[in-house]
Amino acid sequence: MGKLCPDTAMSFTTQEIESEAERLLKALMHVECDARRTWNLQTCLELAPLTLEINRLKREKGAVLLAHSYVEPEIIYGVADHKGDSYFLSMQAAKSKAPVILFAGVVFMAETAKILCPEATVIVPDHGSGCSLADSITGEQLRRLKALYPDAVTVCYINSTAAVKAECDVCVTSGNVYDIICRLPQRRILFVPDRLMAENIRSELKRRGVDKEIISSDGTCMVHEEFTPAQIAEARTRFPGLKVVSHPECTPEVAALSDFVGSTGAMMKYVRSVQAPYFLMLTECGLVGRLEVENPEKHFVGGCRLCPYMKLNSLEKIRDALANPRPHQIVTLDEDLRRRAARCIERMFELAPAD
Ligand code: 13P
Ligand code: SF4
Repeated sequence: MGKLCPDTAMSFTTQEIESEAERLLKALMHVECDARRTWNLQTCLELAPLTLEINRLKREKGAVLLAHSYVEPEIIYGVADHKGDSYFLSMQAAKSKAPVILFAGVVFMAETAKILCPEATVIVPDHGSGCSLADSITGEQLRRLKALYPDAVTVCYINSTAAVKAECDVCVTSGNVYDIICRLPQRRILFVPDRLMAENIRSELKRRGVDKEIISSDGTCMVHEEFTPAQIAEARTRFPGLKVVSHPECTPEVAALSDFVGSTGAMMKYVRSVQAPYFLMLTECGLVGRLEVENPEKHFVGGCRLCPYMKLNSLEKIRDALANPRPHQIVTLDEDLRRRAARCIERMFELAPAD
């Protein structure tokens, strides 16, 4: 017998809802670091009609759903086709033949998908999902900065707008930034938009004995810049044998005190491969949720922070955007700007084909 769920326009049987709730529960029961709710059969039963509806809409529209590891776990485990960090998701976008790509992440990531897949309709559930790094510099500001350093090669972190990418020679991610910078023939590098990552690059180049000058703009990630050495010291006292894992968007002081510093993907690999009684993840809480699901035998001791932009994504917004995208949810780019931005990302794939 068909059952019309109160929040959805689609009809699902009780059996369909129960088996979807069980599927969700298998993953979500492991998520502890979620201040909104405790994951149990009841919460999964409430969400099941929505995830069923989104998955049906995806099939009807031929849509692929890319989700960054920082979005809510019900998106990652309920409806995502691919989940991962910026580099992995940009590779998935580049390979995609889908007519519709929905990007559950932030606007610069959806722009990256549009740069790489111009024929696809790329949808972002909330057009207000910015990023303190990407929004710290405009294409026009970068043009003025470039004029001050005409001999520098311009490198942008993938956390930048399409307009900024269009002004740059090569794009990098947190996973390949050090290798790409070392491979560039130029000594002088204008790196945007992350000031703290620039500091971490300087330290890494020193460690590798590579002589380069790194000039940077002044952006920071509002999530990663907040972690402190005091927080690490306190956790090490409370949890003997603790491993501290941080992201290169953190301050160099935090990076220096960490056992491992790496991209979101590299952090996941590290946790998988290292045996330790406790892990302190100095990154966004969404990643800790993924780690809890995928490494249920390991212990994570808090410390993570929420990115307010990533948390603008929700199942309801995804459903509405897939069913009937509003103009502001569809990413559009000027074709000349898109081509220039694509060149900058393709250069990254040439210089660092695998993460
Ligand atoms: P990565 O996904 O490249 O590790 O970046 C982290 C981040 O802050 C994304 O917004
Ligand atoms: Fe931007 Fe930081 Fe949020 Fe990532 S976590 S989207 S870098 S503000």
